[in-house]
This record gives sequence, structure tokens and C-alpha cells, in this order.
Amino acid sequence: MLSGVFADLFRFVALGFVIFGDQVVLCEVFLYIIDLTVEFTSLQHVHHNSVINIEADIRALQLDSAEENNGVGGVIPADQNSDGVEIVDKMDEDLKDEVQESAPVPDVQQAPEDHDQEMLHPVHNPAKAKEKAAQEKAAKEEAEEEAEANKKRHLNVVFIGHVDAGKSTIGGQILFLSGQVDDRQIQKYEKEAKEKSRESWYMAYIMDTNEEERAKGKTVEVGRAHFETESTRFTILDAPGHKSYVPNMISGASQADIGVLVISARKGEFETGYERGGQTREHVQLAKTLGVSKLVVVVNKMDDPTVNWSKERYDEIEQKMVPFLKSSGYNTKKDVIFLPISGLMGINIDKSMDRNVCPWFSGPSFFEVLNAIEVPPRDPNGPFRMPIIDKFKDMGTVVMGKVESGSIREGDSLIVMPNKEHVKVVAIYCDEDKVKRAGPGENLRVRITGIEDEDILAGFVLSSTVKPVPAVTEFVAQLQILELLDNAIFTAGYKAILHIHAVVEECEIIELISQIDMKTRKPMKKKILFVKNGAAVVCRIQVSNSICVEKFSDFPQLGRFTLRTEGKTIAVGKVTALSGASSSA
Ligand code: GTP
Ligand code: MG
Repeated sequence: MLSGVFADLFRFVALGFVIFGDQVVLCEVFLYIIDLTVEFTSLQHVHHNSVINIEADIRALQLDSAEENNGVGGVIPADQNSDGVEIVDKMDEDLKDEVQESAPVPDVQQAPEDHDQEMLHPVHNPAKAKEKAAQEKAAKEEAEEEAEANKKRHLNVVFIGHVDAGKSTIGGQILFLSGQVDDRQIQKYEKEAKEKSRESWYMAYIMDTNEEERAKGKTVEVGRAHFETESTRFTILDAPGHKSYVPNMISGASQADIGVLVISARKGEFETGYERGGQTREHVQLAKTLGVSKLVVVVNKMDDPTVNWSKERYDEIEQKMVPFLKSSGYNTKKDVIFLPISGLMGINIDKSMDRNVCPWFSGPSFFEVLNAIEVPPRDPNGPFRMPIIDKFKDMGTVVMGKVESGSIREGDSLIVMPNKEHVKVVAIYCDEDKVKRAGPGENLRVRITGIEDEDILAGFVLSSTVKPVPAVTEFVAQLQILELLDNAIFTAGYKAILHIHAVVEECEIIELISQIDMKTRKPMKKKILFVKNGAAVVCRIQVSNSICVEKFSDFPQLGRFTLRTEGKTIAVGKVTALSGASSSA
């Protein structure tokens, strides 16, 4: 008890000295106090812990005063960069934490040296020092924001196309050419591919990382990788071509800004991929619906003996593809570019075409095209929207997704829709880097507090609290019917799986509102009860669980969708009106 009274007294004395900012006297008085305390407590047989508490208090004060001194006494040279300030700040914080948690033994012998330092660098006004530190911090944050703003733009590029067209091979080749995979690793992949009797798949093994993919030579999960050109940072999304994995392809394409449609020029392979039932057509239609606004069509395997860089073969493929791309909604003059390449040989990828290999092609290389490609600007100041594609537990809840609108900062308060859970942003990771803020188009991992990972599903949207994304169980849409199973009729009561951004949900058509005249593109007046293949209709769609969608005209990325049944895409559509949207936070 008595020692408590003494501790308070000492704290009072010590504080007095801190206010005067005289550390020399302070340190000497502390030494004296410590001696006195030890003496007194040993005389009084007071519990040892009390002494430790007093010592801890004293140490805390010493460290506080030293901290002030750092800022005040000009220990940091005037020309020291702001990074230095940041590090000192951080160290101070760490030190404070340490003192609170474990009260380490102070090096009291340090005091006279500090005193000498002080004599050389006289103490200034603490208020001014704080102001200076705050200014430096603000300048640093501004510089960071500027660096962030000046960062190369970022684009997600999805590789699509029929099975075995060479998507993973091109992805692997890009990583090799950009120095992310070395010769030794390539030799390792060659050996592994040979053991699995898949010799020519060694480049694809860079992207296809799991056992099943390597054994079968087919991508299953969307592969991810990063590379840069002069102007742009790219995330490659290597979609599977096999028809069984179209849902995975949809998830890859729904995150993409631009698409690379890979077509095999090898004899017979272009034909199989392009025929009905081949994935070339389905992938193009899905990509367009999912918001992939630009397409680079790479005519691959031009080195194959059946092709041998033949201009005729290349022209034939281009001529057949153009009408189809037009009918899928692409402007083939503005939004599409064709290129001959060899993914396996790495030709016309990072460097322009070798004229000895292909004398008739004088166009740009694949990287040049990607570098120059323009996409519509996104609004960094719009309401924040990040559809969640995945989540996991890692020191809290981490959600993954692509920012479709607005910006996010550490410390932001956001809302997870549709379940309206308010959350706080603790950390933001862009690729492998921790960042303070991120704008639209970025693929992020965001650590949030205020929600458990089990309360989040793919398709939920991390959203602004001021203008949250609408959540509905019903909406009106304009649909283009592609191919109904067994030429069935499409009518009210039709059930399908709805894929919209990262949402996968069973839905039912509850009303056919009108049919669209294919010539005028306007709704027809007469009432309809059913439509068939190829028709365009306006209809009302219902889902049993609330989902986050937007009108296509407001947010195309959250307003385009596909309907699938039994593993086949039967229709593509866009949301035109929301019924009974609940968006109040
Ligand atoms: P999925 O993931 O199953 O859709 O296939 P993919 O499009 O990723 O094809 P992948 O890269 O796995 O390649 C399939 C086969 O085509 C492999 O045997 C490759 O070696 C071969 N291939 C890919 N690109 C080229 C090329 O430029 N030239 C030749 N000759 N073969 C190629
Ligand atoms: Mg693949």
C-alpha cells in the first residue's frame, strides 16, 4: 500500500520533470528514485511486484521523454527523408507496445550519453516538433498517394478459347520471357512432362500447377500470374477450355477487362473449336456478356508443320471469325485485333515477328498490342464495389475480388452486401504488396473486421456504406436466347442457373414481358407466352436468396449475366430494372 503512495508521488515528480523537458535531471532523479524505492521496499518487505510496477512506470516515462526528444532535439537530421520519419514513428510505436506489454529493463547507463547528445543538439519547442512531424507525415502520405496514382495502370487479361488451343502454354511462355521462370525450372518441367507422356506440355506446366491438370494436360482452375509491359501491369487469368469447366471460365472472364482469344491454327483444331459444340463460340459470347470489351485474337500454333506460318491459313481463320465476332457484339474494327503467334516457340510475343520466320506479317508483337490497348476509364471516385470471389481466415477475415468501382483505403468503413454487415478495412494487399489505398480495376485481398468468414459467400459485395449496392430477389432483364436444350421452349416457369459477377444462384423466369424485334431492337407490342432459340426477350427473373446486382446502364460489370442449364449456356442477358431493391445500410 505504502509503495503505491510512493509510486504516485514519484510519478508526479517525474511528470514535473518531463514537462520541463530536462532529461538529464530527470534521468538522475530516476536513478535516485529507483535506489530509494528498492531500499524502501526492502525495508518495508513490500511485495516485489509493486517495485516492478513502479520501475515500469518510470521506464515508460523515460521512454516517452526520449521519444519527445527524438522529435524535438533534432536527432533526425533535417535532410532525412520522410521514410526515416516513418521508421522512427513505427519504432516508437513498437517501443510503446513493448513497454506496455513486457516492460523491458531500461539501459539507465544510456542517460549521460543522451545528455551529451542534447548538449550538441539543443531541445526545441515540443509543440513545434509535433507539428513538424505531422507535416512530414502528411507529406509522406501525399507522396504515397501520388506514387499510387502514377503507378502503371493495371489490367486483368483472361485467356479464353477451345481446349488445347495453347492458352496455358502462352501464359507459361510469357512468364519465361519476362524472366519469372528460368531455364532450370523449364528443364524440370520438361522432365516431369516427359514422365507423364505429355512432352509438349512443359510450358503449360508453368500455369497448370495441380496434379490433375498436369496429368491430363487440361486446365481446371483459372490460373493466375502477373507480368508488366512498358505501360501496364497485367494479371493473367488462364481459363480452362474444356466444356466441363465453363463455370470456372465464367468466373475468370467476369474479372477481366480484356480477353485474349486463343485459336489453334493446326489442321482440324480450328475447325473443331469453331464448330457448334466447340468452346470458341461459347467463350466469345460469354466474354462479351461478362464485360470483356476488347479481344486480342491470337492465331496460335503457326509453327505447327500443318501450318508452317501459312498466310492462307491465317486469312481463312480471320475471315471465318470476323462475322461471328460481329454477331457476338464486338466491333471488329475498334475492339478486336488479330495476330499470328507461336506460344510454344515464343514467336511474336515479346519481340516483333522475325521476318525469316513469317515474311508476310509486319504488325505489332503481342506485348505491343497489350501495351497499347485502351479500355474505358473507370471512376476512382464512384461508390465502392468489390464483388467477393473468395474468402478465407488469416488473422481475421480476408476477402478477395476485383474493384469494379471507387477506391478503398486502410481504415475505411464499408458494408458487406446483401447481408448488410458493417466492416472495417484493416489491410489491403495488391498482388503481393501491402498498400494503403487501391483504385478500380485492382485485384485485391482485403482484411476486414466485423464479420466472420463463414458469414460471407462468393458473390457478396464489399460496398460503400453511403451508396450500397442494391440487393434483390427479383429483376427485369433483356435476354438473348442462344441455344435451349433439346430445342425446348422458353416460357414462364423456366429454371436455370444464373451467373452474374461472382454470384451463382438458381433462378426462375416468372414472367415474359415482351419479345424484342431483332431488326429494330425494340420491344414488340403483342403479348407473348413463349419464345424459341435465337429470340430476344424482356422478362422478370426471380432468385430465392437476395443477390447484389446493378442495372446494366449503371454498372455494366454488375449488370450482365448468363443463364446455364445442365452445363450449357442457354442465354446471355443484362439487367434493365430492379424490383424491390433493398440497399439501405
Ligand atoms: P486447356 O487448358 O485444356 O483448355 O488447354 P490450353 O489451351 O491451355 O492448351 P495448352 O497450353 O495446355 O496446350 C495444349 C497443347 O498444344 C500442348 O501440347 C502444347 O504444347 C500445344 N501447343 C500450345 N501452343 C503451341 C504452339 O504455339 N505450337 C505448337 N506446335 N503447339 C502448341
Ligand atoms: Mg490450359
